Amino acid sequence: MVQQTFPHTRLRRLRQSASVRQLTAETAVSVNDLIWPLFVIEGDNHQDPIASMPGVYRHTIDKLVGEAQRAVSLGINAIAIFPKIDAALKDEVGSLATDETNLVCRAVRAVRAACPGLSIICDVALDPFTSHGHDGVLQDGIIANDETVAILQQQAVAQARAGCDIIAPSDMMDGRIGAIRHALDDAGFADVLILSYAAKYASAFYGPFRDAVGAGKSLGGDGKKTYQMAPSNRQEAMREIAMDIQEGADMVMVKPGMPYLDILREAKTTFGMPTFAYQVSGEYSMLRHAVDNGLMSAEAIMEALLCFKRAGADGILTYFAPDIASHLAEESK
Ligand code: PBG
Repeated sequence: MVQQTFPHTRLRRLRQSASVRQLTAETAVSVNDLIWPLFVIEGDNHQDPIASMPGVYRHTIDKLVGEAQRAVSLGINAIAIFPKIDAALKDEVGSLATDETNLVCRAVRAVRAACPGLSIICDVALDPFTSHGHDGVLQDGIIANDETVAILQQQAVAQARAGCDIIAPSDMMDGRIGAIRHALDDAGFADVLILSYAAKYASAFYGPFRDAVGAGKSLGGDGKKTYQMAPSNRQEAMREIAMDIQEGADMVMVKPGMPYLDILREAKTTFGMPTFAYQVSGEYSMLRHAVDNGLMSAEAIMEALLCFKRAGADGILTYFAPDIASHLAEESK
């Protein structure tokens, strides 16, 4: 690199006009980067607002299909489906998780039929289905790792049978990626992808999501800290990601997003994997409230997404996906 100092080198020359700034932009957000998480509930022709996430709804399956079609028309490549299960259908072991006629599987079938080219992502974890809201099953008050993994294998296969393309284990049990890969292969789903929530932290930023899916009010003292990672840890995240890659993950995720950009950057640099960031519910709600109340301009939303790209994300799960996709389409007119 040529080393010149001021006044020969004036970095502000690169910022003088929109055209120069755009020519020299190192990263950009495109519609191809967006994954849209959507919530589904039982019923017909209904959209239920989520109080903690203004502008986000739980959709009955028919409405969800409409949203999926909107995703396709906006050029969004993938949606992630999260169910809110009626409390009466939950039990200690999350029995409904492995049922091929459960809400998620029916939603996947409906979306698959209506939108053949859209990638569908499903969470693998028991929390929407367990009465206590944990991602796994409890034995003597402790989350039992291997027993949980055996159930997650069945949950993943049920979702693949329904037509899910990308299985996203978000449970943080040890060994689940390898086990799920084997189960999918054995069931004839060698082409179904695994997007591992590889470095998933025990985060208060999931609060609004837990309200959205009606899980997590009765987790008990440690919450999910015995399986989700401690926010203090960076090197451990690299070990988690390395293990998941070895076990067969096709893509990895860091979650939450914005407070964890250092982890995202290091993961991308270290492993060179397709790497995704989840801008989680709390991040969405903070930005949404600040923008809606005039504390920040809406540009803050695009800025946040751009920063994910700069940090190394190949894609971003974001509740802003349809807004951003429409905005990008407008801009390119
Ligand atoms: C469930 C799951 C959670 C999220 C995605 N999958 C919550 C949790 O682990 O408690 C959070 C998503 C968000 O906050 O937007 N395993």
